[in-house]
Amino acid sequence: MTSLSRNIFRGVVILTLLHLGFICANGQYPNMDVDGLYQQYCAACHGKNMEGAQYSPLIKDTWLYGIDRKRMYNTIMYGITGTDMIAWSTALSKEQINGLTDYILAKQDTVPSSEASIPDRVETEHYTLKVETLVSEGFRSSPWSIQFVDDRRALLTERRGGLRWMVDGKLDPQPIEGVPATTQYGDSGMLGMALDPDYDKNGWVYIGYIHPLGDGSTKDTPAMTRVIRGRLDGHRWVDQEDVFRLPESLHFTQGKRWGCRLFFDKEGYLYFSIGDIGRNDEVQLISKPGGKLYRIHPDGSIPKDNPYVGWMSAIEAIYTIGNRNLQGIDQHPETGQIWATEHGPMGGDELNIIEKGKNYGWPLISYGINYDGSDVTTMTHMKGMEQPVKHWTPSPALSDLEFYTGDLFPKWKNQALVGALAFEEIKRLELDGDKVVSEEVLFKGIGRIRDINTASDGSIYVVINNPHAVVRLTPAD
Ligand code: HEC
Repeated sequence: MTSLSRNIFRGVVILTLLHLGFICANGQYPNMDVDGLYQQYCAACHGKNMEGAQYSPLIKDTWLYGIDRKRMYNTIMYGITGTDMIAWSTALSKEQINGLTDYILAKQDTVPSSEASIPDRVETEHYTLKVETLVSEGFRSSPWSIQFVDDRRALLTERRGGLRWMVDGKLDPQPIEGVPATTQYGDSGMLGMALDPDYDKNGWVYIGYIHPLGDGSTKDTPAMTRVIRGRLDGHRWVDQEDVFRLPESLHFTQGKRWGCRLFFDKEGYLYFSIGDIGRNDEVQLISKPGGKLYRIHPDGSIPKDNPYVGWMSAIEAIYTIGNRNLQGIDQHPETGQIWATEHGPMGGDELNIIEKGKNYGWPLISYGINYDGSDVTTMTHMKGMEQPVKHWTPSPALSDLEFYTGDLFPKWKNQALVGALAFEEIKRLELDGDKVVSEEVLFKGIGRIRDINTASDGSIYVVINNPHAVVRLTPAD
C-alpha cells in the first residue's frame, strides 16, 4: 500500500513531464508549459505564486544572487552550493531553464500573494472563528516562537536575532537588548523558546539559536545549535547561561535545517531538536549532532536514564535519532505521550510518537524523495525503525504542534493543531489512541504558520510568517 502510493506519486511526476511537450502556455516557448515546470520543480520551495514557501520568494526587490537574466539563469543551472538549491542542469534542459528564467522575470511586476489580507472570520466544522490580527508590522525579521509569561505579556523570538515583548496584544516597539548574535542566513537564526516550568519563581526563559563562531553572516562560518537560558529585566536579557553547547569540533559550515523547537514535558525535562544540518550521513550516528531530538535537565545536566549515557563517543543528551527536521513537539494531555512533527524532503512530512532511544529512520527510510525527483532511499520500512503515525505527500512543511487544552473550544479538547508553512494552513487532527481519525484544514492561504500557542483564557495565538503577524483565534459570539 505504502510503496504503491510512492509509485503513484512518481507516476504523476512522469505523466506531468510527458505532457510538457504538448501544452502551450507561453508565447516565447510554444512547446513548453513553463508554469507546469515551475509548479513541479520549484513551487515546493519558492511558493506556488513565487511568494516563498520553504525558502525565499522569487518575487522580490532584493536578490541574493542577482536579478540580471544571465545570473539568474546560472543560479538555476548550477545551483547554489551548500543550499537546497541544486544544479537544475541535472534534471532540466537548457531550454527549460531559459523558459523558467524568463517566467520568473516576467512575474516581477505582479503583486505577490503574500499580501493577501487576513480575514476576520473563518468558518470551520465546529465553530465560526473570530480572527483578530494583533500585530501586523514592526517585526525586524520573521517572528518564530511565542510564549506567554502572564495573562498580559508574551515574548516573541525574531529569526535574525531578536526578542520582543507583546503587551496586551500589541508589539512593544522597543526590542530587548543583550540577546546573543545569531546566524544571518537561510533557515538558521534564533528559533524556539520555552519558559521554565517554575518560571513564576525563577524567571528562566530558554532559547534555541544557531551560534556562529564568527559573525555568522555567511554559511562559511562554523556554527551550531545552542540552547541558553536567561532572565528578563525590563528590556534587557540578563543572567545568560549555556544549557546545551557542543565543542567547536562539532560546529559546521554550510549547514541547513538546524532545528530548533524547545519544549518542557510535565516531568520538567527540556527537549529540543536539531535538524539534519544538511548532513544525511551523520543522522544515524550518536557521535554527531544532526537529525536528533535531545532531552536534558533545565540546568543542562544529562538525565541519567537518557538512552546513550555511557556509550562511547555519544552525545549523551540525545533522546531519539533519525529525525530529519523536527519542527513541532507537544505532550498529549491525557496519555502523556510525546508527539512531534517532522519535515520530509520532497514529500514524506511526518507525525510521530516519540519514545526514548527510538530511531525514526531518516535517511534510511522515508516516504519522500529528493527535490530533484531522485530517491533518497527506496525503503519505507526497516526493522528497528519507527513508522510515522501519519505522513503527508506532497509536503505541507509541517510546523508547530499544539494539543488544545483550553476551554473556549470544548469540541477541540485534547485534539492536535498542526501548522504548515508551505501549505499556509492549520490542520486540526482528531486522534484516537495512536491514530489520526480525521483531519480538518481550519484556514488556508493567510501566510506561513510558524507557531501555535494557547493562552490561559483558551484563545489560540498563531504566529505567521510572510506576512509577519500574530493573530488571536476565539469563537465568534
Ligand atoms: C529544495 C528547495 C528548492 C527548490 C526545489 C528550488 N529552489 Fe531555488 N533556491 C533555493 C534556496 C535555498 C535558494 C537560496 C536562497 C534562499 O535561501 O531562499 C534558492 C535560490 C534561488 C534563486 C536565487 C534567488 C536570489 O535571491 O537570488 C532562484 C532564481 C531560484 N532559486 C530559482 C529556482 C527555480 C527556477 C527552481 C525550480 C527549477 C528552484 N529555484 C527550485 C531552494 C530551492
